[in-house]
Amino acid sequence: MSDTEITNNMKDIVSLCKRRGFIFQASDIYGGLNGFWDYGPLGTELKNNLRDLWWKSMVTTPPLGPKGTAYEGKPISIVGLDSSIIQNPRTWEASGHVGGFSDPMVDCKETKKRYRQDHVTVLKNDSDKWPSVNEGEEQAAIEKRLKKLGMSRDMSSYTMVNLTELAVEDYAKIIAPDVKEAGTFTAPKEFNLMFHTYVGATADEDNKAYLRPETAQGIFLNYKNVMDSCRVRPPFGIAQIGKAYRNEVTPRNFIFRSREFEQMEMEFFCHPDEAEIWHKFWIEQRQKWWESLGITGANVIIRPHDSDELAHYAKEGLGTVDVEYKFPFTAPGHGELEGIAHRCDFDLTQHQEHSGTKMGYLDQVTNERYIPHVIEPAAGLTRGVLALICEAYTVDENRPSGLYLNLHPALAPKKAAILPLTAKDDHAGPATELYLELREEFAIDLDIKQNIGKRYARQDEIGTPYCFTVDGQTAEDGTVTVRDRNTMEQHRIHKDEIAAFLRKNIKAIC
Ligand code: GAP
Repeated sequence: MSDTEITNNMKDIVSLCKRRGFIFQASDIYGGLNGFWDYGPLGTELKNNLRDLWWKSMVTTPPLGPKGTAYEGKPISIVGLDSSIIQNPRTWEASGHVGGFSDPMVDCKETKKRYRQDHVTVLKNDSDKWPSVNEGEEQAAIEKRLKKLGMSRDMSSYTMVNLTELAVEDYAKIIAPDVKEAGTFTAPKEFNLMFHTYVGATADEDNKAYLRPETAQGIFLNYKNVMDSCRVRPPFGIAQIGKAYRNEVTPRNFIFRSREFEQMEMEFFCHPDEAEIWHKFWIEQRQKWWESLGITGANVIIRPHDSDELAHYAKEGLGTVDVEYKFPFTAPGHGELEGIAHRCDFDLTQHQEHSGTKMGYLDQVTNERYIPHVIEPAAGLTRGVLALICEAYTVDENRPSGLYLNLHPALAPKKAAILPLTAKDDHAGPATELYLELREEFAIDLDIKQNIGKRYARQDEIGTPYCFTVDGQTAEDGTVTVRDRNTMEQHRIHKDEIAAFLRKNIKAIC
């Protein structure tokens, strides 16, 4: 796909999401709020389906233990949790978020715009003038910028340099985006990403609290409660799905990087000597899981973090491995979908030190006391929704809608649509009866009005895998047509077989 196609493709995806009720800009009627999104009726269903499949794969039917270990073939123990978004603020001091969860920022004194230092790339040449371009701008845009500045169009004399690679003294020579004169960037300043609020009536420092920037810490705070109440022992996991908040400096790319989003995180507590086995195990499991939902082939890669990307909780050599997806706006590169981190004993040790509560575990069999190491598969639920929509978006000029969403049936917001051929009572009546029966078990759409072609087109656009059409023959022999979304092929089945047909075809493979 060319770069122009990629950009168009993303515009089309965003427009489909709005047109069909998947995702809307938050506060749309007031002009929106940068970094915030609302999930419409179908987006909510899709997100809930992804959430439920993750919960099933982690908590209801977790995988069997790794081959060649004492846990081979045995069900792993993982339990669920739903902790508060706001916790005692000392949580975030212990976790390192108050001191360390920040991005260096530069401000443009002229436009008053703020940029993440590592997101600004400048053009460097041998002369004193270094015009800047934003990350992702292409050759044509660079040439345009140079032309606007009345500069040479000979690209060979320029190299791209990330702002982080330049000394602050050199900023005097840099031209910020959207301005013509050099030297408008300030020196970088740290900007903490946590949203804060005040708990209680007085808005002072003593009452300051934070919206959680990750769901993970709620799990560490409850690790002892869960062990004491639920008869789980290392190796075991605690899983949680929920909202997280980050005052991202540059929210961008639709819902990819937002300020309010949802995470699906599992903290797996194990003996330090077994941490590497479990890390490898969870990397494999998580890749398989995304693949089972249709995120496959060259569009998904596994990428170990470079040593300069290590998070504050990771130790050298034991870092994080990302599952990355080729989003239209990252192509030909990939963007993070999930990180699988070896957090060592960082969090439990920090909370032990800050709270005074002992976090060690005494193994009754070996009589060894240790603080478990943690392997953390941390996925974005909302980012996962975006990857699934991008992957499913299929252009097909041979159908009236011009496209369809090739969603796995287990993820599709509607599993089937019941469509009477006409709105007349002899079609609409039995169709409504069928709908009332099937909706007890499946998320089903009943669509009566408009011509049948338009109704098929709508179902294609929202990814409904099957349409059942009630027509004149239904009254005679009890059969309906079933239309397959991807092939558009139709055949007849008896209406009493529909439930079994759907049960078989929408079953998740993970
Ligand atoms: N507890 C570890 C943790 O939070 P992370 O890599 O910062 O790690 C995990 O976040 C996942 O959450 C990411 O892989 C991504 O899918 C999602 N995520 C992070 N920041 C996000 C944002 N601003 N908007 C949407 N999703 C985000």
